[in-house]
Amino acid sequence: MSQFQSGILLEHRRFAIWLEARVTGDLDALRQGSKFFLQQLEALQTQFSDAGLGAVIAFGDALWRDLQGNASAPELKAFAALGNGIAPATQRDLLIHIQSQRHDVNFALAQAALSAFAAAVNIEEETHGFRWIEDRDLSGFVDGTENPQGEARKEVAIISAGADAGGSYVFTQRWEHNLKLWNRMAVEKQEAIIGRTKETDEELPSDQRPATSHLSRVDLKEEGKGLKILRQSLPYGSASGTHGLYFISYCHRLYNIEQQLLSMFGERDGKMDAMLRFTKPVSGSYFFAPSLDALQAL
Ligand code: HEM
Ligand code: MG
Repeated sequence: MSQFQSGILLEHRRFAIWLEARVTGDLDALRQGSKFFLQQLEALQTQFSDAGLGAVIAFGDALWRDLQGNASAPELKAFAALGNGIAPATQRDLLIHIQSQRHDVNFALAQAALSAFAAAVNIEEETHGFRWIEDRDLSGFVDGTENPQGEARKEVAIISAGADAGGSYVFTQRWEHNLKLWNRMAVEKQEAIIGRTKETDEELPSDQRPATSHLSRVDLKEEGKGLKILRQSLPYGSASGTHGLYFISYCHRLYNIEQQLLSMFGERDGKMDAMLRFTKPVSGSYFFAPSLDALQAL
């Protein structure tokens, strides 16, 4: 199989940086930028081998078609707003996702990305993620428990055959939490919204959680098989200002991610995710992360 990019399957990294950009320069500047970024990534991986550094470069639909035509990534499309705009679309052209155990090393790679792509893109959003206490989201609920583990991570996230082998579909969505409002809610009410217990992180039985609970919205099955995705989200932001979850997921099919989104934003059965009572999405983009080989051959 073609080698997948180093930042997709990483487990339990403590820090992340996300750069979302729009293309301004010509395609050759972008191709050059990708190559230069991969060199810088390798250099930092060697220099700081303790950091567990990995990264992903991914492309939005319009840019990927310009670079690669229509044969690659048949499911890729621009993200369109859902739930009458409750989930806004901010579709960007380029995503750079950096993860490691060290914020300083991540920051160095982000700086390298800026110089690599300086002639080609305009950065529209930069988000710094950190792993919070006990892998919890800032809501206080453990996030990532039901993520695929071990070999299943690859099966879920990476395209296994065909021209796109080693590639992955990506979705990013930054959420802003209202923690003042959330923290006034009784814990039992919060648990009904998420669909799991807070302190002990246990799933509420499906007949004991509302159909609008987050779990009920996203734990979907088709013909007896779960529509699985791999999540690499982390909390971000400042204590006194804007904060929340930068949601990011990888999947060998865009379909699985889209079905979960349709379900959360009322486009399947009219029901919205109850989490929207305390948090709201402020961005949304689909991307395709080609295999390392495809990226090097751009
Ligand atoms: C599960 C939080 C957005 C898909 C969970 C869990 C929490 C959580 C606490 C339970 C623990 C776990 O299994 O990880 C959040 C928060 C979000 C958010 C705070 C945004 C503010 C999303 C979005 C999607 C999604 C946008 C899909 C596009 C999932 C999936 C599971 C899950 C697939 C596992 C379900 C299962 O199989 O049990 N989320 N989530 N989440 N979430 Fe989210
Ligand atoms: Mg489940």
